[in-house]
Amino acid sequence: MNAPTSQASPQASPARIRVFDTTLRDGEQSPGCSMTPPQKVVMARALAELGADIIETGFPASSQSDRDAMALIGKELREPVLAVLSRCLPADIDISLRALEAAARPRLHLFLSTSPLHREHKLRMSRQQVLDRVAESVAYAKRHIEDIEFSTEDGTRTEEDFLHEVVAAAIAAGATTINVPDTVGFTTPEEIRSLFRGLIARVPGADKVVFSAHCHNDLGLAVANTLAAIEGGARQVECTINGIGERAGNCALEEIVMALKVRGAFFEADTGVDTRRLVPTSQLLQRLIGMPVQRNKAVVGSNAFAHESGIHQHGMLRHRGTYEIMHPQDVGWADTQMVLGRHSGRAAVEQRLRALGYYLEETELELVFADFKALCEQQRVVTDSDLQTLMHGAGDGDGDGYRLASLTLSDLGQRASATVELSDPDGRRVAETAEGDGPVDALFAALAAATGVQLSLESYQVHSVGLGADARGEASLSVRHGDTEYEGTGTSRDIIEASALAWLDVANRLLRQRRGTASEQLATA
Ligand code: KIV
Ligand code: ZN
Repeated sequence: MNAPTSQASPQASPARIRVFDTTLRDGEQSPGCSMTPPQKVVMARALAELGADIIETGFPASSQSDRDAMALIGKELREPVLAVLSRCLPADIDISLRALEAAARPRLHLFLSTSPLHREHKLRMSRQQVLDRVAESVAYAKRHIEDIEFSTEDGTRTEEDFLHEVVAAAIAAGATTINVPDTVGFTTPEEIRSLFRGLIARVPGADKVVFSAHCHNDLGLAVANTLAAIEGGARQVECTINGIGERAGNCALEEIVMALKVRGAFFEADTGVDTRRLVPTSQLLQRLIGMPVQRNKAVVGSNAFAHESGIHQHGMLRHRGTYEIMHPQDVGWADTQMVLGRHSGRAAVEQRLRALGYYLEETELELVFADFKALCEQQRVVTDSDLQTLMHGAGDGDGDGYRLASLTLSDLGQRASATVELSDPDGRRVAETAEGDGPVDALFAALAAATGVQLSLESYQVHSVGLGADARGEASLSVRHGDTEYEGTGTSRDIIEASALAWLDVANRLLRQRRGTASEQLATA
């Protein structure tokens, strides 16, 4: 593959790729992803901390909520460029310019469709009318604002000669960034690479602007196409956290950024993103919009650095590079996760037991490993507390923790109430009732009251495992206790019960640790 085409443009280094984040606009306008203005502010803060160069905050002409969000974000964030989207209509441009008054570094993002399909069926405009509208709109806006991005909507399905004419007209009228969206995710890496090369080589004034790629993911090619656009000379990428966006979404920010970091020598390009903020930012968005990413999502999915198979775990224990191309810490995970389950080998079980303080002779390890394999026939994942139970033997009153006997929920209208009955480590019954903002909140409050353990939740998710009659809910949560993050899982046919089991998984581990510390102190007293 050829080296990236270098483009003499206003940026300091041709290999510094600007990250234009459109989570709050293209992402937010897709089903299930809407955010209130205060939520957008929280997300915008995180994006600024992450190092996004440009944050697109919304489409002010479309709603009061987008105007309010822009005003709030503009008041707070002075460093990144703040952009808003606008149609090529004087009334829309005026509204957008008013919204941008709040921004320290404003950018107006104008767009108009250029493809024959859109011209004929959506706009009902001729080529000449499109050209005139682009020139007039950019020139109109230029009287009020310097930083103008122009997007040729459905650009990748536009006739090449006409695309060049439109881009030339936008540049002549004052556009400073030219974005060529693959609006419907139709292009291929080869095509988009040559599209950008052609534009940069042949359009008059191309050397005065930054070219930008905006790829949708309908065929799962958004990141590959964006990388190819960079090879073709694009120096700005438009992307969203977790890849949210219209239909199958946009190019995922975390993926494009890590592709450029891990394969920087190949692409001869990098971004200014602080990659350690990728996972926290992804998780923040998941919580804000209530849309978890799939476990195997690149970079930010919970399996992205998890290893279960014996061969992989064995390799990882010898040298991480055998199965990891990036460090989990570099993207914001605490560490690699060795998931113990049916596919795990003796080496991984031994290593986990050592981490828990158990140093076993070969014969003891054989016995525990046999128990471990038997347990794996009953459950998918073996947690630390399961291993401790194996070590101490179930029901001996020492290794055991709290066990769930029953739980009842009641709906109180705006609030919910939960009653839990547990058997404590000595086999006594404890029952507590608590209220909360919803069933899960009430459940966790009741469990805290019954066990005396206060857990501060960092994340909580429920997934469905299996299909049809076998389907079960798996709840996973993580909590921070001091400097340590604990993860717990619980599986049941009932998701509320699975959530209770996940909570108790963590609480029991903490209690065992406390008991271990107390007996160590007694022994040394
Ligand atoms: O996908 C697209 O074409 C867009 C433009 C409005 C930039 O989101
Ligand atoms: Zn888009």
